Amino acid sequence: MLAIIGARFVIEEAHDADVGQNSVQQYNLKKNDNFILSVNGNTIEVVLEKELDREKQQEMNLILTALDGGSPQRSGTLVIHVTVLDANDNAPVFSQAVYKASLPENSRLDTVVITVSASDADEGVNGDVTYDFGHVTEEVKKIFSIDRKVGDIRVIGVVDYETTTSFEIRVKAKDGLGLSSYAKVMISITDVNDNAPVVNLKSLTNPIPENTPPGTEVGIINVQDRDSGNNRQVRCSIQQGFPFKLVPSIKNYYSLVTTGQLDRELLSDYNITITATDQGSPPLSSSKSVQLSVTDINDNPPVFEEQSYSAYVSENNKPGSTLCSVSARDPDWRQNGTVVYSLLAGEVNGAPVSSYLSVNGDTGVIHAVRSFDYEQFRSFKVHVMARDNGSPPLSSNVTMSVFISDVNDNSPQILYPSPEGNSFMTELVPKAAHGGSLVSKVIAVDADSGQNAWLSYQIVKSTDPGLFTIGVHSGEIRTQRDISESDSMKQNLVVAVKDNGQPSLSATCSMYLLISDNLAEVPELKDLSYNESNSKLTSYLIIALVSVSTFFLTFIIIILGLRFCRRRKPRLLFDGAVAIPSGYLPPNYADVDGTGTLRSAYNYDAYLTTGSRTSDFKFVTSYNDNTLPFSSTLSSQNSFFKCLEQKLVY
Ligand SMILES: *[C@@H]1O[C@H](CO)[C@@H](O)[C@H](O)[C@H]1NC(C)=O
Ligand SMILES: *[C@@H]1O[C@H](CO)[C@@H](O)[C@H](O)[C@H]1NC(C)=O
Ligand SMILES: *[C@@H]1O[C@H](CO)[C@@H](O)[C@H](O)[C@H]1NC(C)=O
Repeated sequence: MLAIIGARFVIEEAHDADVGQNSVQQYNLKKNDNFILSVNGNTIEVVLEKELDREKQQEMNLILTALDGGSPQRSGTLVIHVTVLDANDNAPVFSQAVYKASLPENSRLDTVVITVSASDADEGVNGDVTYDFGHVTEEVKKIFSIDRKVGDIRVIGVVDYETTTSFEIRVKAKDGLGLSSYAKVMISITDVNDNAPVVNLKSLTNPIPENTPPGTEVGIINVQDRDSGNNRQVRCSIQQGFPFKLVPSIKNYYSLVTTGQLDRELLSDYNITITATDQGSPPLSSSKSVQLSVTDINDNPPVFEEQSYSAYVSENNKPGSTLCSVSARDPDWRQNGTVVYSLLAGEVNGAPVSSYLSVNGDTGVIHAVRSFDYEQFRSFKVHVMARDNGSPPLSSNVTMSVFISDVNDNSPQILYPSPEGNSFMTELVPKAAHGGSLVSKVIAVDADSGQNAWLSYQIVKSTDPGLFTIGVHSGEIRTQRDISESDSMKQNLVVAVKDNGQPSLSATCSMYLLISDNLAEVPELKDLSYNESNSKLTSYLIIALVSVSTFFLTFIIIILGLRFCRRRKPRLLFDGAVAIPSGYLPPNYADVDGTGTLRSAYNYDAYLTTGSRTSDFKFVTSYNDNTLPFSSTLSSQNSFFKCLEQKLVY
């Protein structure tokens, strides 16, 4: 604006042909907004009282009236045409002082954020507006650009909410001659779920022992999400099926807690996957694997593979021989699962177990320490313990039975007649004996059992081979035919007793038979004895002397005894091997529980199956039961024993 207030524009004075009073006396300017009239003498000026604004009123007419002093008064009117010329008096003006826009982060390049606009009232170059940023940061310059002509603000870089959430940009509008003005553009960035949660393991107790109680905290987990709002809300979970759970604690923190009993023997390593998911749309998630190991506790005792063990061994085994082996398993780790075997202290037949067996602590192989004797005992039990090396150790034990099997290591033992050939035992055979008469009986026992004790009898040598036979299994000596006068009075038999073992063992004895009804024929005995035992002359003489003095009495007793016995039940005299006074049994014989040939159930069977007469069995039974169903028989038997003893004295 060039015309400033007070500017004066000179107007030419008015002319009036009249003079004096009738000439121009007075000027009037019609009232207007901008100008007033100033009359000073002959100088008439229009003074700018108020600025002109071309942009408001480009032209105006001023009406100036000149008046004279005549009467009637005459006037002249002048129209002053004022043209207001333009001057660059207007700066550009933004349509808004503050522009607001919101922009999602990660918007694509070239996205128009907002368009600013400014107008300039001036004309031509004075009203030609260009846009630009005012003073802005480098960051803004990297991210946004502004179109100089149009005023579009566009994205030219990466918009990241997590870096900057809002921008305040000054924009400048400038006209051609340099007048400018400013406005503010506020761009707020909106969040987009572009950050997955991050799982951080803050602490972890690893490894953990398998006896960790349920509810123990083993780790602390922190979860972060850089987004905001819902995009920042994170849920955390772990996979199912493991004895662990996540317990939320303070904001963004979780405790990893055990929920059940751990068992290293079942599962020793856990690969726990922790998954964090945010609430964005679409949600983002991430996961983290946590390795957790379980250490061993000695919680399993060794367990034997078998409920019980049995070992079978033949008697007379070599000391040190292997009987069997035991094995126990312990699933624990290292020394907690290392099994050591031992024998539990105990006694076998009054002696410590260790004198019978030993066990290899590492392998569980069991050895015999000594040679076993079946005739001493047939079986025994020991307890084997398996202990682990934990602290404290755990153990279990198992019963092992050792069964000793028989070996034919005992030859038959002849109880009657006494195996020493010099004992002068003589059987009297009545001259009138018929064929099949029982004459005597060889009694033998065998300490073995079963086949090893199954005895058979055989006459291996005899004076008259046709005269006597022996029951193969009974040992009964019978006449084979009637005795005749021509038979020799003295009959000698050599009897062999064999067991049925493999190989079999045998014993022999001699039996002296005297065919006579009359003890007067005693001298024959002398010959007999002499023949058989010259070396025992002295004893023979002594016995002979005693015999002479007691012969008669003895003879009568024998005859009476024999007759009495035979009348009642003659055969019983020699029936059953049990009819032996206990004094005849071998020293250990009666001690053995059920092992003796005579008492053994096995032998009962043997007797029965070999067809022996039932009387044998019955008698055995009554003997064993200590009941005396045949009391009279027994008393007669007792008398027989007396006879026998008497005879033995010879
Ligand atoms: C743990 O599990 C994750 C996911 O199942 C798997 O990627 C990773 O290889 C596993 N780690 C181990 C040591 O097994
Ligand atoms: C054995 O078990 C005990 C606890 O019973 C434990 O302290 C020890 O570490 C275990 N040993 C091994 C080798 O795992
Ligand atoms: C042997 O095992 C039994 C149970 O199987 C137990 O009662 C006993 O105490 C054990 N004996 C020893 C000495 O460990």
